[in-house]
Amino acid sequence: MLCSRKMGFGACLVMVTCSMVSMYYYRKPQKPHLVERDIDECPGKIARDVITALRGNETFIITPYHDPRDGSVTRVLGIVHHQKTKELFCYFCTGNQTIHVVKAKIEMHQDRFGFPFGLADIICEEPPNTRLDYIYLDSAEDADLTGLPRFRIQNKDPPRYTVNFTICISTMFGNYSNTLQLIQTMEMYKLLGAQKVTLYLNSCSPQVQEVLEYYVREGTLEVIPWLIEKYLKPSRRWDSVNDGTEIGYYGQLATLNDCIYRNMYKTKYVLVNDVDEIIMPRQHDNWECLIDSLQRQHKDVGVFRVENHIFPQTMVVDGNFSGTSSWREVPGFNLLQHVNREPDRPDYFNARKLIVDPRKVIQTSVHSVLKSQGKSVDVPLDVALILHCRGPLQKDLPKTRLIEDKRLWRYNVSLINNVNKVLDQIIFKTTKR
Ligand SMILES: *[C@@H]1O[C@H](CO)[C@@H](O)[C@H](O)[C@H]1NC(C)=O
Ligand SMILES: *[C@@H]1O[C@H](CO)[C@@H](O)[C@H](O)[C@H]1NC(C)=O
Ligand SMILES: *[C@@H]1O[C@H](CO)[C@@H](O)[C@H](O)[C@H]1NC(C)=O
Ligand SMILES: *[C@@H]1O[C@H](CO)[C@@H](O)[C@H](O)[C@H]1NC(C)=O
Ligand SMILES: *[C@@H]1O[C@H](CO)[C@@H](O)[C@H](O)[C@H]1NC(C)=O
Ligand SMILES: *[C@@H]1O[C@H](CO)[C@@H](O)[C@H](O)[C@H]1NC(C)=O
Repeated sequence: MLCSRKMGFGACLVMVTCSMVSMYYYRKPQKPHLVERDIDECPGKIARDVITALRGNETFIITPYHDPRDGSVTRVLGIVHHQKTKELFCYFCTGNQTIHVVKAKIEMHQDRFGFPFGLADIICEEPPNTRLDYIYLDSAEDADLTGLPRFRIQNKDPPRYTVNFTICISTMFGNYSNTLQLIQTMEMYKLLGAQKVTLYLNSCSPQVQEVLEYYVREGTLEVIPWLIEKYLKPSRRWDSVNDGTEIGYYGQLATLNDCIYRNMYKTKYVLVNDVDEIIMPRQHDNWECLIDSLQRQHKDVGVFRVENHIFPQTMVVDGNFSGTSSWREVPGFNLLQHVNREPDRPDYFNARKLIVDPRKVIQTSVHSVLKSQGKSVDVPLDVALILHCRGPLQKDLPKTRLIEDKRLWRYNVSLINNVNKVLDQIIFKTTKR
């Protein structure tokens, strides 16, 4: 249902479907002082936080994105309560003293994993041939807009992408303090072809904060503050154990989807993975060559799924890497020393992470996309894997059963040089190495 009304007149353009609504407005016209307002004077304060609570604290808006791919809609990414958020109305404010009201279609993403709150696409059909800049959302259909947060609609008039590879990293939380591995990972991303990394930050150690600031200054990193606990009780787990937490894994699904839409027109490809993961090509030197080859074989594919492999932090190899003696003073793990991976377990699937053409993705989950306009394909293990350096999953496995995998060492000279440049500027800036 799409319904327009002229402020103060209660006129409804789509007479048949909107007759109820228009009668309602006719009986209860908007306050006359709103009638004269133009685009610069859409009422309400512009929402500037990454997360904004709506009235009642049952719906939390992240970002509205214009989406022209299947009809013309504003897709508002929001975190909603699966039962309490029942109805929402979208108020579009246009440049010509008109407010358009339309009932939203609330599409909860299917993988809520048992938590009461989950990500939803709040879909507002856009009135045709109208320049829309702002949107308001409310559970009432006759809301007074003056008290509501006003959201700027993003992704309108998008430029053509200027970047080839962007990494989307979902929430960094728990006072993250793995400094050395983070710097190595950022430098590996750059060596493999990343021009940009978007990271949602909940909490990290002061030293990691310095590292993040360094990469922001460098222009590689975009940090989105993600203070979800101001609004909801986040769980460290992805699945619910009924411990009173309200949303899984610090709202990971919300950040990943927001990241894809945020970068949709800025980058050719998005790599969706965690901060302890690197998508490692095994036949090519970088992602450009990898994706060229994959895309040539699979022209209509928009989602490439790469298998995750654990390189346990407990298995340490002593390589003789010249130029790394100072690294012992830096907190965190040294990726160059973790070059053995756990073998597949017979009865488990290896999780996968994604390389996507963001313009083909409509909804994403962590290991696959939920809705897309292109096909998905699994990348064979001999073409690429995810180097996931973390605690072991198979704790009791004898070390001799691990598989040696030294692909990372091919990058050792550039990696060591680049990491040392960063360390010199932030960790050892006062002391001489
Ligand atoms: C919503 O949350 C805010 C901040 O947590 C609080 O001040 C406000 O009273 C809450 N409103 C309702 C209706 O629960
Ligand atoms: C204002 O917007 C309405 C709805 O899109 C449109 O029909 C009308 O022509 C517009 N008026 C002006 C002056 O642009
Ligand atoms: C992106 O890839 C194209 C080839 O597909 C290349 O010509 C261009 O230089 C790359 N851009 C950047 C910023 O690396
Ligand atoms: C965060 O980690 C750093 C370094 O590991 C530590 O010094 C600091 O006390 C921690 N902060 C909190 C709030 O736990
Ligand atoms: C490590 O390599 C350096 C030169 O790169 C060499 O001087 C040194 O002897 C080597 N150390 C060991 C233990 O092999
Ligand atoms: C890099 O690794 C190669 C073996 O792959 C080794 O020969 C070389 O010495 C290493 N370079 C450094 C700087 O550690």
